[in-house]
Amino acid sequence: MFAASRIQARAFSASARQLSKVTVLGAAGGIGQPLSLLLKMNPRVTELSLYDIRQGPGVAADVSHVNTKSTVKGYQPDDTGAGLGEALKGSEVVLIPAGVPRKPGMTRDDLFNTNASIVRDLAKACAEHCPEANLLIISNPVNSTVPICREVFKARGVYNPKRLFGVTTLDVVRASRFVSEIKGTDPTEEKITVVGGHSGVTIVPLFSQSKHPDLSSNAELVKRVQFGGDEVVKAKDGAGSATLSMAMAGARMADSVLRAIGGEKGVVEPTFVESPLYKDQGIDFFSSKVELGPSGVEKILPVGELDANETQLLEACVGDLKKNIEKGVAFLASNP
Ligand code: NAI
Repeated sequence: MFAASRIQARAFSASARQLSKVTVLGAAGGIGQPLSLLLKMNPRVTELSLYDIRQGPGVAADVSHVNTKSTVKGYQPDDTGAGLGEALKGSEVVLIPAGVPRKPGMTRDDLFNTNASIVRDLAKACAEHCPEANLLIISNPVNSTVPICREVFKARGVYNPKRLFGVTTLDVVRASRFVSEIKGTDPTEEKITVVGGHSGVTIVPLFSQSKHPDLSSNAELVKRVQFGGDEVVKAKDGAGSATLSMAMAGARMADSVLRAIGGEKGVVEPTFVESPLYKDQGIDFFSSKVELGPSGVEKILPVGELDANETQLLEACVGDLKKNIEKGVAFLASNP
């Protein structure tokens, strides 16, 4: 009996490893297109499902010619509304970069009015068609769109906190690159922990825990990590925000989730998840280092020791973060 169930378990995990359907919602956008390309290059992805309200099939046809093993299918809304459901069915991982990006002078919170309802509607479709998928939310403001997804899933009785992630990978990617520019080091060797949320002062880099604790007092660097996205928004001058670096960060996060699903141990990524770390301060979601496993979140790692500068940054973070989370929850309560 025991042996039989073990064989069954092994067969199941083997098939889970072999069949990894990954879906991108918003696949024809600035992030969606390079993200789809990077996912096509990932041998862990066996089926790539690309949905957008415009040009999903177009992007899919293009990406499908890349000579890697995975199959690619494109979807857009059809008259029956079936396109989205078909795109989602059987997904192991769903990435959501659908929505509008910032223009110069805008904060991520300024996107709320448009993106909240887009993410809500896509989350409803996920709850219906792939309730057990790992949901990776890229659409901003992440601090609010992730709580919106939780409320949608909860209302349908399918919420699993281990499967819902806000993608904050770009903040650590930026931090390691910016540090390497100052120190003249290899950015891939710079492991910088960034905690909190994903906008402005809610982004808290912890340089005291890195190889360069002296950088914690470098206010200019701290600000650059917190507001690095603004550099791109300004340079693109009205044409959007980070897309290529974000695609790289999203593809890395998806790869980490897939590696953990495949049984790899010790896969750790920073990500914005439902977290016990600051619940006593009324903060349900927090980004910190998270160990991933076959069921999604395996273990939420503690924030660790902070120095005096970082303690101050964290105080500023929690105030804003609380408001952002509450805004998402309140939106769904009045716009179910
Ligand atoms: P974009 O405007 O180039 O692309 C968005 C795509 O979403 C478009 O192709 C659009 O047709 C599609 N879309 C809109 N409504 C949809 C719906 N209901 N269903 C499916 N697709 C839909 O925008 P971009 O530059 O790709 O940015 C997307 C989002 O990602 C923005 O909210 C942006 O703020 C966010 N972002 C997040 C980052 C992060 O670190 N988490 C970093 C950079 C951007």
